[in-house]
Amino acid sequence: SKIGVIGVPFDKGQLKGGVGSGPEAFRNLGLIEELQGLGCDVKDFGDVTYEQIEGLIVKNMTALGHIAACQKEVSDSVIRIINEGRMCLTIGGDHSCSIGTIDGHVKAKGNIALLWVDAHADLNTNATSPTGNVHGMPVALLAKELSDYWPYLPGMDWQQPRLSIRNIAYIGLRDIDSYERLVIDKFAITAFGMEDIERYGIIEVTNMALRRIDPNNNLPLHVSFDIDSLDALEAPSTGTPVRGGLTLREGIQVMEESYRTQRLSAVDLVEVNPGLGSPTDVKITLEAAKHIIRAASGHSRRGQSPENVLDL
Ligand code: ARG
Ligand code: MN
Ligand code: MN
Repeated sequence: SKIGVIGVPFDKGQLKGGVGSGPEAFRNLGLIEELQGLGCDVKDFGDVTYEQIEGLIVKNMTALGHIAACQKEVSDSVIRIINEGRMCLTIGGDHSCSIGTIDGHVKAKGNIALLWVDAHADLNTNATSPTGNVHGMPVALLAKELSDYWPYLPGMDWQQPRLSIRNIAYIGLRDIDSYERLVIDKFAITAFGMEDIERYGIIEVTNMALRRIDPNNNLPLHVSFDIDSLDALEAPSTGTPVRGGLTLREGIQVMEESYRTQRLSAVDLVEVNPGLGSPTDVKITLEAAKHIIRAASGHSRRGQSPENVLDL
């Protein structure tokens, strides 16, 4: 498959340093070469850079001048990659990166279906957020139905909510704020928490989610994968870890089912923070993320026979 990779060394959507060095850590791990080794046509578009907009202040919304400027660049990069006919793989950075990736994907393709794999719903507005951290707000910024709940956001005019809540599903939820719960119920958002995964199993849950967000099997698929969807033991180096989460095997299965649709068109891998935990924690987390990315790139655990069989 054809893949375009961008790094977004961005950490202003939350307060912990280190998550901005995610792209560098994955490159040092040899991620690009690894994907090439799988037989993918990989083009590395490098890391996104931006210049902060000064003086953007909105109540309970931290670092909007950084968010607005950076995510505009992310969106433009995603549009370029998708228009080259490549699946866009974005390496974060914190989850506010998905404001840009999903905006760009929707602009390039029209309507899309979105799987949000996360311990958290990231559905707060600046009025409901307990923290003011924008990595807890991207879904609320992207959903058409929630646009009335936002004040005017200076610097964000390039970003119009274009995605319907009908085309969004969650997998892996287990740490939901009270107003997020209210919005999920009010708009009947498709949301599979850990208890649903226990009841139905991850493959059934993933396929139920895909059917709900794309009933006609014809929309480009975007998977936004927050590494904290995995159990904190599987992915310890992340800013807001939550126990009781997905196993790595379940995370891989979500991606394998997504790839199997043949419409996987963009993947975000976010919230890996190489600055948190011991060197072993960092290694475990990066390796887990790498397995998720391999599955998204079409790697099968069944193995693959060679394309040109040599006469042995
Ligand atoms: N719900 C909390 C908040 O709004 C935590 C969000 C965590 N988000 C994440 N992408 N890790 O701040
Ligand atoms: Mn999360
Ligand atoms: Mn998240």
